[in-house]
Amino acid sequence: MNKIQVHLDQKSYSIYIATGLLQSMPEYVRQIPVSRTCVIITDTNVDPLYAQPAANLLSQHGFQVFTYVIPAGEPYKSQATVSQVYDWLLTENIARDATIIAIGGGVVGDLAGFVAATYLRGVRFIQIPTTLLAQVDSSVGGKVGINHRLGKNVIGAFYQPALVLIDPMVLTTLPRRELYSGYAEVLKYALILDASMFVKLQQNPLKLLSLSDWDWLAEIIGTCCSLKRDIVQHDEREHGLRRILNFGHTIGHALEAITEYAYFKHGEAIAWGMIAAAHISFLKNYISHEDFRAITQLLSCLEKPPIPRSLTVQQVLDAMSTDKKIDEHGLNFITLKKIGKAKIEIVEQHILRAAINFVVHEGL
Ligand SMILES: NC(=O)c1ccc[n+]([C@@H]2O[C@H](COP(=O)([O-])OP(=O)(O)OC[C@H]3O[C@@H](n4cnc5c(N)ncnc54)[C@H](O)[C@@H]3O)[C@@H](O)[C@H]2O)c1
Repeated sequence: MNKIQVHLDQKSYSIYIATGLLQSMPEYVRQIPVSRTCVIITDTNVDPLYAQPAANLLSQHGFQVFTYVIPAGEPYKSQATVSQVYDWLLTENIARDATIIAIGGGVVGDLAGFVAATYLRGVRFIQIPTTLLAQVDSSVGGKVGINHRLGKNVIGAFYQPALVLIDPMVLTTLPRRELYSGYAEVLKYALILDASMFVKLQQNPLKLLSLSDWDWLAEIIGTCCSLKRDIVQHDEREHGLRRILNFGHTIGHALEAITEYAYFKHGEAIAWGMIAAAHISFLKNYISHEDFRAITQLLSCLEKPPIPRSLTVQQVLDAMSTDKKIDEHGLNFITLKKIGKAKIEIVEQHILRAAINFVVHEGL
């Protein structure tokens, strides 16, 4: 059992990571001061696999359990879905002392967290992430929210969970592409914060994807959560340091937007974005060509759709112009000073263009 404590004064909480943890989840839920009412929010894929068994377990332990199932998929992280959930919560007379439990991937976690942050001005919230991406990233740190037709994740809040329960075993049912997508976020942590994890992954790039060594996997997930915890403790509301977690995301988000969120999985687009960001770091002479090659080699282990042939460099630059990281000085870009150390800076337009050109035209 790996326990990671997130210290945020009154909003502190624990992250527990262990294989088979879901079987004993009521015991952990009981450890926090919850009422007997639990509201599980999940999606259509995760419901029969993990939410229904969790609901049964909670009922056996004396909890009154309500479940709301949203359709699976990014398009449902929307105002329309949130509105339907509010209607249902009010119809069921769910009171403020209830606990919302998100069981699912990042879509469910972000949406359920946003509902928890806003319903009756805030109810307690537990994250049980079931994708690798959600286990290493979205369930930790308190960013919750939904998409708007004019932008992704533009409506939201910082709202910390009361507890995060991570069971790596749930990854056995995760579709392959989703596993790859989460692996991209694992590589992101290695690149920006942890050179030793980069070496570990480099030594056996496919080990994580084989889901064969649960202790090793739990350790990797724990390392990612600890790294994110350290950043969030320093900069909960992303005024500075937390921005480094957006490594690869500026160009990645642009690729997702141009392809209307239908072609790439989030992590796949981020993997392309990280290649571009590593190229920028190479062009700026921060990392050697050897390191750049090592990075692209590891990222090439992630099967991902190619950049569509019709896509242009200008389209990517245009899509980046609406990025949330733009301030009065320009677009804050995350580069690598070296493997394991990130830097936030404004990047010259010609370097940006060259790096985008590299992924759009040369790729891997
Ligand atoms: N809040 C944050 O800090 C943060 C960080 C990164 C990403 N995100 C958000 O996370 C979202 C992406 O999350 P995601 O990649 O987890 O996608 P997702 O939630 O859509 O899950 C991917 C798919 O896997 C299915 N699934 C989930 N767990 C499963 C399991 N164990 N077995 C079988 N199927 C399973 C889901 O039903 C879905 O079809 C995006 O909306 C992104 O904006 C948020």
